[in-house]
Amino acid sequence: MMVDHGHYDALLALAKKRRSIRHFRPDPVPDEYIERIIEVARWAPSGFHSQPWEFVVIRDQTLKNEIVQASNRRRPETGASREAESHAVLPRSDFAVAPVFILLAGDWRARHRFPAHITQADETAEADVFNSSLASAFLLLHLAAASLGLASQWCTRVVRGSSGESVRRIMGLPEHIRMYDLMAVGYAAKPPIEKPLRDLAGLVHYEAPQEGEFRTPEQIGADSQKFRAWCIRAH
Ligand SMILES: Cc1cc2nc3c(=O)[nH]c(=O)nc-3n(C[C@H](O)[C@H](O)[C@H](O)COP(=O)(O)O)c2cc1C
Repeated sequence: MMVDHGHYDALLALAKKRRSIRHFRPDPVPDEYIERIIEVARWAPSGFHSQPWEFVVIRDQTLKNEIVQASNRRRPETGASREAESHAVLPRSDFAVAPVFILLAGDWRARHRFPAHITQADETAEADVFNSSLASAFLLLHLAAASLGLASQWCTRVVRGSSGESVRRIMGLPEHIRMYDLMAVGYAAKPPIEKPLRDLAGLVHYEAPQEGEFRTPEQIGADSQKFRAWCIRAH
């Protein structure tokens, strides 16, 4: 039987092409491209087809600067928190230069039609379905950007913790609109460095895997150290 692998090959190539770019050229991105990117994400799967997403496109430089400043602000009172630690090891990205930010948010009210087996399961089940729905749309945003030859960065720090509170105020978002993550998009100022990956054979398991098939704590420690060092270099 002849099998057409065209879609698979194209998808794998796109998955490899999509990389985190943290240095952008200021060249503008046509609005048409932004609409095309969001059009792809609109087709994402979502729990109970709830489509909780709202896409906020930010092109205004003053607003972008305010968002970046809010996300770079340190909070000395947090001491040795994860946030402070990540500020210490990761140099500031210049994502303010990216001509467009797309803030992906979800309307928390969209979960109201979730069935009882979700709403009555445990307190995180609703949020899991809601966040997974947004994650599926967010990845499609990045893949769509890559398919159009654009570079993108996943900017979690903008929407989390005290930065997130400031950004919410700056944007004037109502309480029920929950920020998921922000994507900076534009043209790459420099290419990404080659990415190391875990081996395929070590992460595929069949049927009911035994505990011994998974990584030991030592292997996880070594992997984490290696990949984290790579990640910091990639910034
Ligand atoms: C949940 C999640 C959060 C991330 N947060 C950030 C972030 O805040 N800033 C950033 O520069 N990259 C962020 N990234 C990108 C990862 O660092 C990146 O995907 C990883 O290092 C692999 O590199 P690649 O994207 O080039 O393949 C995030 C990725 C994910 C999936």
